[in-house]
Amino acid sequence: MLLSGLALAPSVACVTTQVSNPRNARPRRTACDLFGPVDPSILDSVSLPNGFRAEVVLAWGDPILPGAPEFDWKHQSVEAQCGQFGYNCDFIAYIPLEATGDELERGLLCVNHEYSVGSMMFEGYKDRRDAFHRVTKEEADIERASVGHSVVEIRRTSDGWQPHKGALNRRISLYDTEIIFSGPVAGNPRLQTEFDPSGRKVIGTLANCSGGVTPWGTILFCEENINDYFSGDLPKSHEERERANFQRYGMHESPRYPHYRYEERFQLDKHPHEANRFGWVVEYDPMRPEVAPVKRTSLGRFLREASNCVLDQSGHVVVYSGDDDYFEYIYKWVSHRIFDPKTRSNNVDLLDSGDLFVARCEDDGSLEWVPLQHGFAGLTPEQGFVDQADVLLEARRAADIVGGTKMDRPEDVEPNPKTGRVYAMLTKNKYRSAENLDGSNPRANNQAGHVLEMIPPSKGEGVDHTSRQYTWDVFTLGGVQEGEHAPHENTLANPDNATFDRFGRLWISSDGTQDTIQTADGIWVCETEGPERAKMKRFVSVPIGAEATGPCFTPNEDTFFLAVQHPGHHRKSSVASSTSRWPHGDPERPPLPAVIAIRRKDGSPITL
Ligand code: FEO
Ligand code: CA
Ligand code: CA
Ligand code: CA
Repeated sequence: MLLSGLALAPSVACVTTQVSNPRNARPRRTACDLFGPVDPSILDSVSLPNGFRAEVVLAWGDPILPGAPEFDWKHQSVEAQCGQFGYNCDFIAYIPLEATGDELERGLLCVNHEYSVGSMMFEGYKDRRDAFHRVTKEEADIERASVGHSVVEIRRTSDGWQPHKGALNRRISLYDTEIIFSGPVAGNPRLQTEFDPSGRKVIGTLANCSGGVTPWGTILFCEENINDYFSGDLPKSHEERERANFQRYGMHESPRYPHYRYEERFQLDKHPHEANRFGWVVEYDPMRPEVAPVKRTSLGRFLREASNCVLDQSGHVVVYSGDDDYFEYIYKWVSHRIFDPKTRSNNVDLLDSGDLFVARCEDDGSLEWVPLQHGFAGLTPEQGFVDQADVLLEARRAADIVGGTKMDRPEDVEPNPKTGRVYAMLTKNKYRSAENLDGSNPRANNQAGHVLEMIPPSKGEGVDHTSRQYTWDVFTLGGVQEGEHAPHENTLANPDNATFDRFGRLWISSDGTQDTIQTADGIWVCETEGPERAKMKRFVSVPIGAEATGPCFTPNEDTFFLAVQHPGHHRKSSVASSTSRWPHGDPERPPLPAVIAIRRKDGSPITL
């Protein structure tokens, strides 16, 4: 079903480009020629090109730990949810494992669970707001157990991908997982609370949107919309600079989740420092489930979407991130130490020491990475920064002072492994006006978003990711393009997550096209070089109300994992009124956020 008034324009014409294929020296197909058209209609199903199939691998409530019961949505418990796959899946990493039995492939899926929605999880609530006010303590506990992260072994047989209760399976949640602080802010008085006078450990993680994988195979996942969890005002006696911090991080806004009613640490007037303990990057080793995850404070605190790592030629590790809010910044972090490819354990604390930079894009096309370094460029005690720990804890305020470029809501910031160029998904900004345009955010009322290309300088056979001087280009604008009259099936809007294939093609997921251009959210692919640079081709449409998150290939690129987040969800949605019953079709059950695996029916690689 397409909403009225949306005429489909003809598909974008494709030209076959001769690009060498390292596997067999045949010219590879370009993004536009990889598959046929995909229905962009807003349906309660997943739409794919002809010749492809999708299967649900893991859905909310699936038991993943020993002893966890089968999901029974009318009889949930916190104990059950602690052993089950969480809600609203987002970032996905796939870590291959050696096949040990009859399976064809075996690996770990490492998946974020971004947020809970009481009215879509429990019976009897009218809408999200109603649930916010009325959920019981037990339901709030279940919600806290449903967010965070899951690690699940999966195996592929001739029947497809299935979860397995492997020894590495794990839940990390806001309910009961102890997480350690490390790096320059660990133990700082501003992290100390009544429940943790050391300032070195915290229960849980929240708002886990996107993430990344380090060169040594650990997983990073990020804390994004932290302000949605806290309520109340700072006590009058509290330090004035904390007031500026909380204002800058949106802590004065109304919370969206009910936890402050049942768990006192989410009340700012009683435990103001608790809010400083979120907004960080969490690192854990998927091969060592007995080791606590760690919040790496060196990378800075903001409403962080992702943390995409690249190993620079120099051996330094570089992490790119965006702060997903209106007029927020793009950041880069460069490790002090060099990655040790021979001894994995030598990299354990590599993320504890490095330099944080914010992007400043000039209208002449140059880009400077401005260091957020205490003592320089106004980051001084007069501005409330006593030392570098304060700069990291209030990275947003530091970036304001040094003059970072305020972007149109940065989501994923992903380096292209083939070219080294870095792509920032800028999802939208309806508040951008004609008065505050700049070259890198060139559209007022930017409802459909855009993609910014950041270009490091060449060095040897590659690029220098440690350089402070890049250039930038607007890679594509979302929505209807110049010369077009209406959106068509390949029109991209509201870019959010991204990944690359081995040929350097960019695969983009969307969050918001259903409102912006009235087509289903989904996945698009494009070339980043050559005659078809930035020409979008739709690959997947996700069910009504859902956004597409966590795009992730297996190494052989014959499976594409995708998280279908919040199917059927709208502010006014409840289990009873949901427009979606995906994936089961049962009108008596809530729709289920789920990870799907997409493959060609003949099993051949998707990208060839
Ligand atoms: Fe959670 Fe920025 O999307
Ligand atoms: Ca996102
Ligand atoms: Ca990504
Ligand atoms: Ca988003």
